[in-house]
Amino acid sequence: MKKLILTLIAALGIMTGAQASEGGIAWDKAPGKTNDTASLQNGAKLFVNYCLGCHSASAMRYNRLQDIGLNDDQIRKNLMFTAEKVGDPMNIAMRPADAKEWFGALPPDLSVIARARSSAAGSGSDWLYTYLRSYFRDASRPTGWNNVVFENVGMPHALWELQGSRGATLEEVKETVDPTSGKHTGFVKTVVNFDANGVRTEKTEPMAEGHHHASRTWTLGKLEGGTLPQARFDEQVADLVAYITYMSDPTAHQRTRLGVWVLLFLGLFTIFAWMLNRAFWKDVK
Ligand code: HEC
Repeated sequence: MKKLILTLIAALGIMTGAQASEGGIAWDKAPGKTNDTASLQNGAKLFVNYCLGCHSASAMRYNRLQDIGLNDDQIRKNLMFTAEKVGDPMNIAMRPADAKEWFGALPPDLSVIARARSSAAGSGSDWLYTYLRSYFRDASRPTGWNNVVFENVGMPHALWELQGSRGATLEEVKETVDPTSGKHTGFVKTVVNFDANGVRTEKTEPMAEGHHHASRTWTLGKLEGGTLPQARFDEQVADLVAYITYMSDPTAHQRTRLGVWVLLFLGLFTIFAWMLNRAFWKDVK
């Protein structure tokens, strides 16, 4: 039994280890702005303008945006395009069947995506922050876009007008094996390049003798044609991610604020309890 448990733990370790190293690029850390009302408001605006066309956030009601400092009037004027009442959830008009046909995949509801995407490589917010900034041109894809973090994704680059576009290079090192004997014969390196228009070229050559191991390395090309400089674009994505993170757990800050008061109360209560205890026992002793 003990041996079985140990084997299971070891297997689990190998699996999670493999997953962490498989994804290609390391995730960038999302600037934690979920506490910043201006960021959250800007994020909500970006979300409504650039994402809500395809994705719903049905666990989120518009009037909940009062939590991030907006009043009903501001919500109605600036953020509501598809809903009727401020009490409505953030739904979309697109039919799921259409989405499936247009993109080959359903745009998932984004209410809790920031929680769903966390893993050993980082938080769900880190994944989102990296994913939304890692698009490149790939003319072979139906949308004309591909993504380094989510390869062959069905979603186009929703923010491309702001960020601009670029190519990318994938360097892949693979072991070669003799098909009859199954013996290791060496390593080859394949370089797949996508130019600024997404045109793909591929070159494979054997590698010199020596110590190699299998790997995949993505490098993104230089950005061109965006309306925002890169640093400004990153800030916008940070705000958007802060909003998506807030949506996945809208009461997170209320909870931590409340937690401080609870601890203060418990501390004070301990002092009173101790004083009361002393007063009770004073005459007994
Ligand atoms: C044109 C429609 C469209 C727009 C606009 C769009 N998406 Fe998507 N999105 C999709 C589709 C389709 C998928 C499913 C892709 C797949 O599974 O290959 C997707 C997938 C995703 C995923 C991955 C979900 C997962 O874990 O599988 C995230 C995150 C996401 N979108 C976020 C956003 C954000 C944030 C925006 C706004 C900036 C946005 N999307 C705008 C169509 C869209």
